[in-house]
Amino acid sequence: MEFFLDTADLDEIREAYSWGIADGVTTNPSLIKKACDKLKASGSDMSLASYIEEILKVADGDPVSLEVIASTEDAMLAQGLFLYERFNPIAENVVVKIPVNPDMIGDGEVAFDGLKVIKKLADQGIPVNTTLIFSPEQALLAAKAGAAYVSPFAGRIDDELRRAIGGDFDKTAYFPEEGEEGYDDHGVVSGVDLVSQCVDIIAIHDLNHCKVLAASLRNPQQVRECALAGSQVATMPFGVLRDMVGHKKTIEGMKAFTADVVPEYSKLFE
Ligand code: E4P
Repeated sequence: MEFFLDTADLDEIREAYSWGIADGVTTNPSLIKKACDKLKASGSDMSLASYIEEILKVADGDPVSLEVIASTEDAMLAQGLFLYERFNPIAENVVVKIPVNPDMIGDGEVAFDGLKVIKKLADQGIPVNTTLIFSPEQALLAAKAGAAYVSPFAGRIDDELRRAIGGDFDKTAYFPEEGEEGYDDHGVVSGVDLVSQCVDIIAIHDLNHCKVLAASLRNPQQVRECALAGSQVATMPFGVLRDMVGHKKTIEGMKAFTADVVPEYSKLFE
């Protein structure tokens, strides 16, 4: 499984790359906002364009998703082409992120602009990451339109299911915990289930040009279960990646081994 960093924070990206396990980066307008706020707070006058160039260089050939901010076909297409032409020459690793259904006008309305843009960009050989996937059928459509990645949002569908059940919940907690009441969104029972169904539907229909990129992940258990479900990629915040390596028994074991080191053993390393 490939691990992408779900952040635009250069410090986090550099750190994760130094661990030797990072395979790419995903950004979105909210993550770019966070990075810009941090940059301004540090007193830096680096432009956003230069900052993005730096991310592309750190990722060094690994895919970096950059998202359009428009929501109509022509504007998304123009922005997708701009992002690719402006930034891909830096390290040949730009993936354009397009929402599957960008309509923001009507309640429950749908628009096909996302699919049309995916098709047009894919026809020009530009890799597209389809974002805001909340159903396996959206993933199927995006893959058929030519997307290189589909990003099912595991954490956000869990939030939606938990909201439907009611009561307070911790956004970072695995859902559903053992014994926790479940809920069903048109046959999707959890974020991991959404990812798993996307993996299956794409494999069954031989749409192998398209990788499932499990997104909106909030805890290591989700990452593990998405890996077991066969998701090719998981994008996660720095904190989730860090938490994956931790276990209280590992620390406990280290302390016990260290306490048992005899002087003869220490001497070997002198
Ligand atoms: C990644 O491509 C998505 O934009 C991201 O995973 C969304 O995560 P969030 O739901 O935690 O904001």
